[in-house]
Amino acid sequence: MPLSDAPTLLSLMWSPLTVVTAAHDGQRGGQIAVGAFAASIVPSQPRVLVQIQKRNHTNSLIEASGRLAVHVIARDQWPWVRHWGFRSQTEVDKFEAIDWFEHDSGLPILDGVVGWMACRVVNVMDGGDMAIWLADVTDAARNSRAQPLRWHEVQQMLPPEWADQYGQKLSHDVPDSGRRMQELSAKPPWRVERG
Ligand SMILES: Cc1cc2nc3c(=O)[nH]c(=O)nc-3n(C[C@H](O)[C@H](O)[C@H](O)COP(=O)(O)O)c2cc1C
Repeated sequence: MPLSDAPTLLSLMWSPLTVVTAAHDGQRGGQIAVGAFAASIVPSQPRVLVQIQKRNHTNSLIEASGRLAVHVIARDQWPWVRHWGFRSQTEVDKFEAIDWFEHDSGLPILDGVVGWMACRVVNVMDGGDMAIWLADVTDAARNSRAQPLRWHEVQQMLPPEWADQYGQKLSHDVPDSGRRMQELSAKPPWRVERG
């Protein structure tokens, strides 16, 4: 198989779109992630595996707090791709004009989603450009039976100027990740070099 076939195969494996949030010391963060997966077969001990780029503000908050929340979003929430996925919380307050509440754990939980899970980190793997968080689900709510959203569906809905904006972001992020992918320096527990 030529390596050039791999990206399309990998894109079939992305998770439904999620918003991953975290908080620490009065700061909040949240971002889109298609790298959020189920990681337990034990119903009484639910777990998730979440891939977060180390350069992201959200990752700093997960690292500092040891907690993260995963929100499964619905098809009609596709504009959230731009809201949570194109810009950093360091540039704009993404929580302004969004309905959310503070969970007992301190995590920001978003209203109007298919469902959310509040999680506590139990381990991390250093992926070079990303941190791969393994976390126990400590609380959860399923709000609706709405269909989750997939990246290939979003791609067909994106207005051309949004697609351009995302292309510009990738033109920075992809080379940056390429440089960092070999920098594997995991230092347990739950702290990795940002590089
Ligand atoms: C469709 C889509 C999927 C994404 N999936 C991921 C992902 O799985 N992991 C990740 O770290 N970033 C992912 N991103 C990028 C982050 O959402 C983006 O860099 C965000 O601006 C980071 O925000 P922050 O700096 O406020 O944390 C994705 C972006 C989009 C648009």
